[in-house]
Amino acid sequence: MSSPRPDPKPCRQQDVGLFEVTKRDGWARLGKFHTAHGILSTPAILPVINPNIQTISAREMWDEFAVDGIITNSYIIWKHDRLRESAIESGIHELLDYPGVVVTDSGTFQSYIYGDVEVENEEIVAFQHDIGVDVATMLDVFTRPDMSAVEWRQGVMTTAERAGPAISAAQGTLLNGPIQGGLDIELRRESAQLMGSQPFAIHPIGGIVPLMEERRYEELFTMILAIRRDIPAERPIHMFGCGHPMLFPFAIALGIDLFDSAAYVLFARDGRILTPEGTIHLDNLQEWPFPSASLSGVSPEEVRGMKGEARCALLARANLEITLAELARCRQAVHEGKIWELAESRSHCDPSLRKAWNSIIARKNSDAAMSGLVESQHLQRGGGIRHMEDSPIHRPDLEHIRNAMEQRWKPPPIAGWNGRGEHRFVAIFALAQAPWRRSIEGYVKRLLLLNPAAIPVVATPMGLLPYSLEDINPYAHLMRTQTEMRDLDDEFIETELQRLGLVDFPMNIIFVAADEDIMESMIDAVAHAEQLGEIDLTVLDEEANHQAVTRWLQRCSVVDKLALFVNVEPAKSWQAVGKGKMVMSRTGRIKNILTADGTHIASPRLTDGGISLTLEGAKWLHGLNTAEVGELSGPAVIQVDDDAEPFVRKGRNVFHGFCLSADADLRPGQPCLITNSSGELIGHGISRVDENEMMAFRKGIAIRVRDGIRNK
Ligand code: GUN
Repeated sequence: MSSPRPDPKPCRQQDVGLFEVTKRDGWARLGKFHTAHGILSTPAILPVINPNIQTISAREMWDEFAVDGIITNSYIIWKHDRLRESAIESGIHELLDYPGVVVTDSGTFQSYIYGDVEVENEEIVAFQHDIGVDVATMLDVFTRPDMSAVEWRQGVMTTAERAGPAISAAQGTLLNGPIQGGLDIELRRESAQLMGSQPFAIHPIGGIVPLMEERRYEELFTMILAIRRDIPAERPIHMFGCGHPMLFPFAIALGIDLFDSAAYVLFARDGRILTPEGTIHLDNLQEWPFPSASLSGVSPEEVRGMKGEARCALLARANLEITLAELARCRQAVHEGKIWELAESRSHCDPSLRKAWNSIIARKNSDAAMSGLVESQHLQRGGGIRHMEDSPIHRPDLEHIRNAMEQRWKPPPIAGWNGRGEHRFVAIFALAQAPWRRSIEGYVKRLLLLNPAAIPVVATPMGLLPYSLEDINPYAHLMRTQTEMRDLDDEFIETELQRLGLVDFPMNIIFVAADEDIMESMIDAVAHAEQLGEIDLTVLDEEANHQAVTRWLQRCSVVDKLALFVNVEPAKSWQAVGKGKMVMSRTGRIKNILTADGTHIASPRLTDGGISLTLEGAKWLHGLNTAEVGELSGPAVIQVDDDAEPFVRKGRNVFHGFCLSADADLRPGQPCLITNSSGELIGHGISRVDENEMMAFRKGIAIRVRDGIRNK
């Protein structure tokens, strides 16, 4: 027999109640919530334990299912003399025989079901403190969706009024501060702000069980999207009563850290099985359409023949197993930066979920919540992107780079590679296969040789892409069967050109064909049409011209990547690299970018088409004069305190709590410059947070430092 799972180690005393983010994918985050009964790794589900009927015992939850935290109801314990006395005497952990994190609810849910409860807010909170729970819950007012607007407001106000007394009654025990407000989004935001202003440890979103029961996912997710930014960033967000695995990817993508639910046992009682694709009834099964250790060796037929309690216990175990597995899958997706891809695939499982998905995805950037969500996504990311015919290009994780291109990319200088370009036009290469440097680079060069002012652009499934950025992720890494742009219609092209600031130039579409002769005559015809005169084909004969165009394209690529990923004004990059050198790899790709005096300032990354600054590059950017209005302002600057300075100088990471200020345009995954308290550059790195999170969190890494400037 394997030895039982050891008890958890308490976190450090000073860390109790702190939440630390270790990895993120937009708003989705992998975190650690620190408690006296161990560290809860999030996103996590707290299975509901009924102290009277433990279909799966709390001990089994710990030992067999490796569940690090559970939730139980303090009101049920308080109401039953035997349980209450035992809990007071030996504590909740002993009562339940559970060594991990114990969260308790307060009786609010009972008041929603039965209309009332017999306990007051302060009494039930003090009771939770007395029995030693890790996180208690105040007595909030459950705001049902079918209540009136007046009742919703009363619910929010009463809950907010009870917050202060609850915090006093908790005497230091960590406390849940639920957010209520029915279906009124603005009221929900107000509730989040009111509750967020009090020292709660976690913020559950309450009053949503009826929405989930009625599959009103669109309203539910719209509300979560809207209130995220009103909840203090450094506190976990809990979705009260959500336990259906089908909802996890979407909820996590919208920033949810914790779930709780009795669904695993409630559904089992009805003979239903929870799966990430939906609910299945035992009566309809000939086979188990999913793997399950609990159900292995027994057929659906045999389970149907079992007695009620035994059948419920078996199905509850299967439900819990599947629920935990889906959560693990979501965590892995966050780890890989693919939570939106997973949410998209799950959105096909249920019509209401798909509707909710479509409605969230369709939100415009003018919607402040949506733009916050989009901007939290990593701009430079790796890995292939699964892309279906109907995949929306404005999915938040893809939209960010499209927005950044709209805001930061500028056409190259009109003079072009030979300083003689005059007739600006856009040439869109359509139907070309990625990698585009292989499929069309020869044609792009021919076009530029004939017309140095041409702007080559590629039509990709994700929209138009300047050729200079042809190898960037996700454009160059879409996994799909066809590479043509889905809607090469006039309206789409017009919108795309508008986004790139190219709408005022003449435009030609070059449909890429396999036959080289046809392609060359097409390029010549386009160049001719736009040249307003005879084109000079002799330019193609000189090897020096070909080399000059190659060098020009390399510089365009460097300048454009510095703009897109490092927010450097193109004119400033041209000054630095226009006369600089490139160190090339044996395969003909740029390895190092040097300025005219040989300083190595950056290197393109082959894996994701991004760019990495060197320490010299950081010094160059720090030395640039401040940006004029309308210019790109360079990477965000973070000022750290004197304690952190020596560590940063040695190249060690910046931890939360050591930062004095951060620029407002700081974004996760983007490069940043680090200065000391006197504004002197001491290093550079990649931020893991935005400005607000930088100042709000108290634990964890804030900036991954790439290099520091050592003291002489
Ligand atoms: N469980 C499910 N919904 C709720 C809620 O709104 N408040 C509390 N306290 N518990 C819940």
